[in-house]
Amino acid sequence: MIELKNVCKSYNKGAVRAVDDLTLTVPPGEIFGFLGPNGAGKTTTIKMIVGILAPDSGAIAIAGRDNRREPLACKAVTAYVPDEPEIYERLTGLEYLNFIADVYGVPARERGERSRRWLEAFELAAVAADPIQTYSHGMRQKIVLTGALLVEPRVFVLDEPMTGLDPRSAHHLKEAMRAHCDRGGTLFFSTHVMEVAEKFCDRLAIIHKGRLAACGTLEELRRQAGDSGSLEKIFLETTGS
Ligand SMILES: Nc1ncnc2c1ncn2[C@@H]1O[C@H](COP(=O)(O)OP(=O)(O)O)[C@@H](O)[C@H]1O
Ligand SMILES: [Mg+2]
Repeated sequence: MIELKNVCKSYNKGAVRAVDDLTLTVPPGEIFGFLGPNGAGKTTTIKMIVGILAPDSGAIAIAGRDNRREPLACKAVTAYVPDEPEIYERLTGLEYLNFIADVYGVPARERGERSRRWLEAFELAAVAADPIQTYSHGMRQKIVLTGALLVEPRVFVLDEPMTGLDPRSAHHLKEAMRAHCDRGGTLFFSTHVMEVAEKFCDRLAIIHKGRLAACGTLEELRRQAGDSGSLEKIFLETTGS
């Protein structure tokens, strides 16, 4: 469960209002897609959810706990994959996965089994013993995702996870996230890809210039927009200033 209440964030001493009075709730069991044009405030929102940035005002709770007052309790149940996979280049893939598993306290048996499963699925098994600095951008993204998946946290927060993923890897990720949410987990992710959002999400939000422009199921968005068309059409109408 993720709850944002009246969250505001500006940069440059208030010159840029990146997130403006954002309130939304993502209950357990839900795949929640966060859409918006470039610069709409998606990454800023995500960084506040995971505790990298502090809101100027408002509050965020993860699994019922305030993420400023109980940051460790929130982080312990959350896995975050940023849009740019900037990670420890001198570690090998396996060393990186072990490091993440240590941080989250994943028992040895689970970490081995889950790492193997995801290294196979993402076609990284052959390079797992190589340093990450030899990896391509896509491979780095997949090793970070593997780290998140091997933790099996209650809450996944993924910033543009489909960008740069090959179709097979994207398919595996979507299946795993659907199963995770069917077991009562939560996924909050941002995306530019309308087809993914349309087919994959239980609910969606469209953010525009830092403000929530629309929120609900695809059906609800259609009703709000008075438009029975595609998500792309609703998105373009909602964000056309
Ligand atoms: N570190 C920063 N310093 C100043 N402005 C920033 C910073 N990060 C983001 N912004 C600005 O905040 C707004 C929202 O950015 P961002 O959250 O990255 O949007 P999105 O992820 O939707 O593309 C944009 O106007 C962007 O230029
Ligand atoms: Mg972004």
